[in-house]
Amino acid sequence: MDMNLKGRIAFVTGASRGIGRAIATALAAEGVSIGLFGRDVPRCNAVAQELRARYPDIRATVIELDLSAPKAIKPAVEKAITGLGGVDILVNCAGGAYRGRLEEIPDELWESYFAIKPLGLIRMTREAIPYLRKSSQGRVINISGTRGREPHGVQVMSGPINLGTLSITKAMANEFGKDGITVNAICPGSTDTGRWTELVNIAARERGVSYEQAEKTLTADVPMGRVVKPEDVADLAVFLASARAGMISGCAVNVDGGRTRGI
Ligand SMILES: NC(=O)c1ccc[n+]([C@@H]2O[C@H](COP(=O)([O-])OP(=O)(O)OC[C@H]3O[C@@H](n4cnc5c(N)ncnc54)[C@H](OP(=O)(O)O)[C@@H]3O)[C@@H](O)[C@H]2O)c1
Repeated sequence: MDMNLKGRIAFVTGASRGIGRAIATALAAEGVSIGLFGRDVPRCNAVAQELRARYPDIRATVIELDLSAPKAIKPAVEKAITGLGGVDILVNCAGGAYRGRLEEIPDELWESYFAIKPLGLIRMTREAIPYLRKSSQGRVINISGTRGREPHGVQVMSGPINLGTLSITKAMANEFGKDGITVNAICPGSTDTGRWTELVNIAARERGVSYEQAEKTLTADVPMGRVVKPEDVADLAVFLASARAGMISGCAVNVDGGRTRGI
């Protein structure tokens, strides 16, 4: 299927690693130039270099940004606009959640994680919207998480962070539809990024089993029988960014191999 994305421009937060990096790579493979936003400049530079080498027709620019510093967001967006000449697709991927139970998490941790997602995501979108309005195919893709729909006691923070992201996604879709901008969320289930490897290693140590055995146990309740790969999430992001998804807006799609129990 031709995604017809060649020549478009995407801004991707959290592009230094994990899901954000996979989305930046998948979009670049479709001929999209990428603004990689991140705190870790050397790591972002390495990703940008790799993208330019693999896809010589695109541009890849690194913009240093700590999303928890509100005043830094506007100048970072303006710098990217100057460097790349505009934006068609905004992927808000940066963030995460501290893993722990309610009584284990102090205020400072709640505040520091919320400052990135959803607050940083809201600020990033607010700054990018005037430029997305100028695109003939504006897209906002917010990376939420299945815990926003199915909260859990040991990952209590993932619930409100991702639910807040879903709510703002719907509100943005309602507001920006008139400007031709679609806004959607992707809800990954447990995804094989650095944190997953850490969790499997902990489970393997605690149970005295191999990495493979621990991973099998941890994915036993996934109907598709395996952990989500960052590339699984990236494939959906590419589709949502494309002209093919022009009438899909205000949606949240799980990429979890069927693990979430609710409909
Ligand atoms: N992995 C999962 O199982 C899973 C499940 C559901 C939802 N998600 C969501 O998917 C998204 C990506 O997760 P991931 O697993 O790929 O995470 P990851 O590998 O831990 O990467 C997190 C990314 O966010 C960036 N980031 C963190 N704090 C930032 C800040 N203050 N300013 C700017 N950038 C910041 C990091 O940049 P630095 O390199 O600068 O640290 C990094 O690029 C997150 O929103 C997460 O909630 C993940």
